[in-house]
Amino acid sequence: MKVLSTFAFAAGLLSTFSDALYLQRRTDGPPKVVGFPVQRKNVPNPLLRDRLRRRTGTVQASLQNEATLYFANGTLGTPAQSLRLHLDTGSSDLWVNTPTSVLCKSRGSPCASTGTYSANLSSTYSYIASDFNISYVDGSGASGDYVTDTFTIGGTSLSKLQFGIGYTSSSSEGILGIGYQINEVQVGRAGKAAYNNLPAQLVADGVIQSNAFSLWLNDLDASTGSILFGGIDTEKFEGTLATLPVQKESGYYAEFLITLTGVSLGNTVIASNQAQAVLLDSGSSLTYLPNSITEAIYEQVSAQYSSSDGAAFVPCSLASNTTTLDFTFSSPTISIPMSELVIPATSSDGRPLVEADGTKICLFGIAPAGSSTPVMGDTFIRSAYLVYDLANNEISIAQTKFNTTATNVVEITTGSSAVPDATAVANSVAASAGIGSNNVANAIGTSTSKGAAQKTAAPVSLGAMAAVGAGMFYAAM
Ligand SMILES: *[C@@H]1O[C@H](CO)[C@@H](O)[C@H](O)[C@H]1NC(C)=O
Ligand SMILES: *[C@@H]1O[C@H](CO)[C@@H](O)[C@H](O)[C@H]1NC(C)=O
Ligand SMILES: *[C@@H]1O[C@H](CO)[C@@H](O)[C@H](O)[C@H]1NC(C)=O
Ligand SMILES: *[C@@H]1O[C@H](CO)[C@@H](O)[C@H](O)[C@H]1NC(C)=O
Ligand SMILES: *[C@@H]1O[C@H](CO)[C@@H](O)[C@H](O)[C@H]1NC(C)=O
Repeated sequence: MKVLSTFAFAAGLLSTFSDALYLQRRTDGPPKVVGFPVQRKNVPNPLLRDRLRRRTGTVQASLQNEATLYFANGTLGTPAQSLRLHLDTGSSDLWVNTPTSVLCKSRGSPCASTGTYSANLSSTYSYIASDFNISYVDGSGASGDYVTDTFTIGGTSLSKLQFGIGYTSSSSEGILGIGYQINEVQVGRAGKAAYNNLPAQLVADGVIQSNAFSLWLNDLDASTGSILFGGIDTEKFEGTLATLPVQKESGYYAEFLITLTGVSLGNTVIASNQAQAVLLDSGSSLTYLPNSITEAIYEQVSAQYSSSDGAAFVPCSLASNTTTLDFTFSSPTISIPMSELVIPATSSDGRPLVEADGTKICLFGIAPAGSSTPVMGDTFIRSAYLVYDLANNEISIAQTKFNTTATNVVEITTGSSAVPDATAVANSVAASAGIGSNNVANAIGTSTSKGAAQKTAAPVSLGAMAAVGAGMFYAAM
């Protein structure tokens, strides 16, 4: 979900070095990574949800329509207080609700199922400041205190992590933002220096070596994927990872933007020689491409565009078509099977969509971006294995392997002696379109996913890794 923010630049925040992504097979113990499966919740109306989170007006009512995508369980405080959190690669603050807020005390106890945090009940709580205030473009938000306390996720405990408490809140679920620190509201709003959010604190505490994480969402029919902080799982993708530079906005690395250079459907070239910035956003259900590209794809697959829905529909039988929609980023190409683009949909009263002749109708996974920055949402991301390397401002991508249970976790390091395992893309194209529609004031904090991951039991196959606790925690001893 988009964060509204007033940018105030804090000196010394930006990292200036740009090492490549280095991977290393640790020989003195299991890899130092923190991982846990991410679980998908159904989105009954992905279109409506995306539309609400993408618009810039204030729509308080949108929350009831917002279906969580990926979420994780964590705990805060001593003794531990349990929370279910949206995992959000777009925003950068962890914040949670408190049981005494007007929202949480309101009828139906909306925060009960997702959990709350009570500072008074924690012996390890520590107050920082009262300037926590996050607002999303859909009108939701939270404000209150910035504090620190112990935080546990994926079997890993951090003794001290900064987060916000929503003493005033309009969202019943807490958010675990893991994006660029420049997006923290303390930076954008209060003009303070950045603090260590979760990935940065994992590095500071030596739990992982580098501020980087990998996302494997798995396919449309699967409900769990995984996120791995500080490592990659070489069994979850085909071939080798290709490394692309994150594109800056007005001189700043603030969002996960990369350059899309071409689109093909089977042997048909839809667009080539592009230099289009696209936002990788796991919090978006659909993929939003420039209108001309979207129209050309619709024409090829005979999708029927509905202007009232802002999206297109296709016969569900298209899912069995073996043509792939291919996206090229300078050189690596990610192929999306048609089955990943044909999304079961129902009418508002829950009935299947059927044409007069009985043909079943499905939602198509590509929609027009209009004047907004194009977004590679879950219909794209499920087919890609993505490494978000914040330390080096790079994104490494490869074609995903669906449904595999094999695993081989390799640590991401920063040392020069580490073995490089991802190849930088030669002559990567700088984006010339899609960037600049936001000025810095808007760009800082506009990222968005409000997706989430759910901590579940460790996967059955752990390979050579040691599993500690319910999640997966690997530490070099
Ligand atoms: C915490 O306890 C203090 C003192 O008992 C009380 O004033 C305050 O309202 C409590 N805060 C919360 C969030 O419950
Ligand atoms: C938080 O920010 C919003 C939007 O700028 C503002 O309306 C609200 O008053 C702020 N809340 C607090 C407690 O400062
Ligand atoms: C992955 O597994 C699900 C069942 O869990 C199945 O429906 C789906 O077809 C599988 N996908 C692939 C690509 O094999
Ligand atoms: C699959 O879809 C493409 C694009 O619409 C079409 O050209 C092709 O004929 C289809 N293949 C089959 C087997 O229907
Ligand atoms: C996450 O926490 C919720 C609430 O305590 C619980 O119902 C759910 O089973 C948990 N999920 C996992 C995978 O641990």
